[in-house]
Amino acid sequence: MNEKVYLNGTYFERNDALVSVFDRGFLFSDAVYEVTAVIKGFLVDWESHLSRLKNSLKEINLSFEMQEKEIFSIQKKLIDVNKIDEGLVYIQITRGVGHRDFNFEEDHFEPTIVIFTQEKKILNTNKAEKGIKIVTFDEMRWKRRDIKTTQLLASSLAKTEASKRGKDDCWFIEDGFITEGSSSNAFIINDNGEVITRELSPKILGGITRSSVLEFCKKNNLNFRESGFTKIEAKYACEAFITSATNFVVPVIEIDGHKIGKGVVGNYVKEIQKLYFNEIQKRLS
Ligand code: PDD
Repeated sequence: MNEKVYLNGTYFERNDALVSVFDRGFLFSDAVYEVTAVIKGFLVDWESHLSRLKNSLKEINLSFEMQEKEIFSIQKKLIDVNKIDEGLVYIQITRGVGHRDFNFEEDHFEPTIVIFTQEKKILNTNKAEKGIKIVTFDEMRWKRRDIKTTQLLASSLAKTEASKRGKDDCWFIEDGFITEGSSSNAFIINDNGEVITRELSPKILGGITRSSVLEFCKKNNLNFRESGFTKIEAKYACEAFITSATNFVVPVIEIDGHKIGKGVVGNYVKEIQKLYFNEIQKRLS
């Protein structure tokens, strides 16, 4: 595949972008990342993704000097040369290469920065139209899920297990309450049309799409509440959905084999999808 990847100052062909086996990103998942949607070549919510990236870096004490403008222009360049109309840009920063030591304080590191693009359909997908089926699993990730690190094994195992069971994804449960999805935020809508999603805390990733959806709800006088909800509440909710940069708003029509509402995509979610889509269109024009 003829596709460029940015690695530490150089644009490589995909197969030539190589990182040392002594990189702490490889050995310890000592790395943070961001995934930003690209629609018509435009980076959606770029500033918010960059600000979350900076926060993740701060939370793991990784100092990284690159200018924001430079990051933006590398991302734009990759979108252009790789001809991405709809898809995503991935950026990862690791602490860098060093001795394999749990204590990283003694060593001096040059962070590794990798940026690549992926073509992907985000708008008008089958899932966005028909909805997805999910299963629930006990939460098995670490306790700082607000930091977007590359420690994704638990999520990856869970999503694979969901797929083996013939479902599309999973929601995690901790202390009786849904936290979030394997790579998305979880929402339900109750009979009063109130949109409910978990409040921000280290227990969930503060999704950029999540906050846009809440902002659009506010603007459009749709009721919403940020609080925990249980599996029972989800089962008997009127509607449910997930949000993420790679899916935007996708309806959830089944949880643990139990239909949510009528088991088809409901009107509230359709309305939220429309609001989100219109806002993206506005920003593109
Ligand atoms: N994941 N929660 C988790 C655990 C996530 O991994 C993601 C995104 C989200 C949604 O955040 P946002 O709306 O900012 O994309 C919530 C990305 C898409 C990924 O890892 O590929």
